[in-house]
Amino acid sequence: MWRSHLARSLHQHQDQPEVKFLQLATVGIDQRPRNRTVVFRGFLENGDRFQTPLQDCLKIVVDRRSQKPEQIAENPWAEACWYFTKTRSQFRISGKLQLIDHQCPDLELQTARIETWQALSDPARIQFSWPHPREARIHFSKTDPPNAAQPLSTFCLLLLEPTEVDRLELRGNPQNRWLYLRDEQGNWTEQEVNP
Ligand SMILES: Cc1cc2nc3c(=O)[nH]c(=O)nc-3n(C[C@H](O)[C@H](O)[C@H](O)COP(=O)(O)O)c2cc1C
Repeated sequence: MWRSHLARSLHQHQDQPEVKFLQLATVGIDQRPRNRTVVFRGFLENGDRFQTPLQDCLKIVVDRRSQKPEQIAENPWAEACWYFTKTRSQFRISGKLQLIDHQCPDLELQTARIETWQALSDPARIQFSWPHPREARIHFSKTDPPNAAQPLSTFCLLLLEPTEVDRLELRGNPQNRWLYLRDEQGNWTEQEVNP
């Protein structure tokens, strides 16, 4: 399955922190594409045990005041694009986004949000106390790191639940490509296709 190939690519680059950077494209409220770099924070663990099962969800952290949340509320569909130089593999992971904010009533998801906050570094946490993104630049006064146990209300966990994955491997001539599709029951099928 695609996850074992992704795990292999991540493993091969474990000495490079930037391997966790991927591009996440959403649809703007004006229907235009929006794309940005985000950090992969791992997969949601035991998502299949949740009351509403969640499969293979990628975890991303976002600021509630950024533009993503309002875009997701209008259109949850997104595509992540991730390229690994050593394995020469590209993964295009598309699916729906779910935003877990401080008001999310689902206890399991709220716990996942809190644990993700706790796993962040102080420099990552402090960004959620910065003044409002995209507003005119102001002087940032020095502040202490926020409470490491309790997330700020600006902190959200974003889950990308994949339903389609397109894997392209540049190695080989011709190159190799596979499509993975998830059905209603949550089972994945794999098809090798022309590149
Ligand atoms: C290397 C790198 C990593 C980033 N990681 C994140 C991240 O994990 N989450 C995030 O919301 N923004 C991250 N950003 C900032 C986003 O690219 C973007 O500027 C910000 O989220 C605002 O996007 P939006 O207004 O479209 O929501 C990162 C930027 C770079 C260059």
